[in-house]
Amino acid sequence: MLIEGKGMEELRGALIGAGFFARNHMQAWRDLASEGARIAGVCDLDPARAQTMAEEFGAEPFTDPVRMLDVLSPNFVDIATTPPSHRALIELCAPRTRLVICQKPIADSHSDAAAMVEACERAGVPFLIHENFRWQRPFMRLQELLREGAIGTPRFMHLSFRHRWDVYAGQPYLATVPRLAIMDMGVHLFDLLRLFLGEAEAINCETQRRNPQVAGEDGFTALTRHEGGAVGVTDCSFHTLRRPEPFPQTMTRLEGDEGTLELLEDYRLLIHDAQGRREEDVEPSVPAWGEKPWHVVQDSVRNFERHALQVLRGEAAPQPSGADNLRTLELCLAAYESAATGRRVELGTFVLGEVAA
Ligand SMILES: NC(=O)c1ccc[n+]([C@@H]2O[C@H](COP(=O)([O-])OP(=O)(O)OC[C@H]3O[C@@H](n4cnc5c(N)ncnc54)[C@H](O)[C@@H]3O)[C@@H](O)[C@H]2O)c1
Repeated sequence: MLIEGKGMEELRGALIGAGFFARNHMQAWRDLASEGARIAGVCDLDPARAQTMAEEFGAEPFTDPVRMLDVLSPNFVDIATTPPSHRALIELCAPRTRLVICQKPIADSHSDAAAMVEACERAGVPFLIHENFRWQRPFMRLQELLREGAIGTPRFMHLSFRHRWDVYAGQPYLATVPRLAIMDMGVHLFDLLRLFLGEAEAINCETQRRNPQVAGEDGFTALTRHEGGAVGVTDCSFHTLRRPEPFPQTMTRLEGDEGTLELLEDYRLLIHDAQGRREEDVEPSVPAWGEKPWHVVQDSVRNFERHALQVLRGEAAPQPSGADNLRTLELCLAAYESAATGRRVELGTFVLGEVAA
């Protein structure tokens, strides 16, 4: 179906999982209606959640994904459930649509993630992971500066994500999962490291559990070596008290042969190069439906979904694809292995079994 007056194909989507984060998905899809997006169905195992979200966004509610696919034949499916359901949903949807999008983390295990990548390859559909940190405005600007050659070849990156925001209020399951900080936040940070420094070859990692109320590690510090010799340092904590609370900003330093880029508090970007030092404000605007301090995340969801429409129209390759994100999961699993054994783990020789939780 063409959108009236625009000569543009309407892209009919279906959302699976109407929980905490899916609201951002739905708001952003609604913003992209002028670019052809329409979410026609919302499915959740919890009928009240499906009903409430479907009603708010003018979609049809479902509790059974199979029935939703039968009724709507969507052009794309947006999966916003937690990882235990991802594999079955991808295997169900891949043969029945033109694009599958899946929230991070791709899966809890390497075997599930590999099966998902395979299912999409077999069906011949692009597989896009909802990995939105690389779509945050500050990191999009860093990518642009790097492409322009502002700092030459990157050699070192430090990513720091430390806060004491009560993430457990909106996502109570986070307090109960045996693997917390690396699987929830490390996936984002490792995706950025791989994007900016290239493929990781080895990792050393220490984990900490500082908040006694949570089951998993709520902090980690990792040292990575990347192809070509670049080095990454990643530190993350969900139990760091600082005023003002910096959540959800990622403090960053990216050093290249010709200069350095720094992301500091309050979305200040410093560019150090041969000419001297200049500063840019890289704070995104707050979406009409959004609020601070979530605006950087909410804006990134919209950027990501705009990209998803381009993938669906064949104008862009998935960023990141499921196959790419499998490498990020491997780095996470290697981080757990390093923390458990106290040893450096080489990615090339690391046996990707089901590492004990
Ligand atoms: N990219 C980001 O910035 C970001 C931020 C927060 C959460 N997330 C990710 O989003 C995902 C969802 O997180 P959340 O906090 O919204 O979880 P949630 O528990 O609030 O919501 C998940 C929903 O999925 C439903 N569901 C589960 N299995 C289903 C199935 N088979 N069919 C239909 N519905 C099903 C549940 O009933 C629930 O309503 C997680 O993977 C999380 O890591 C990403």
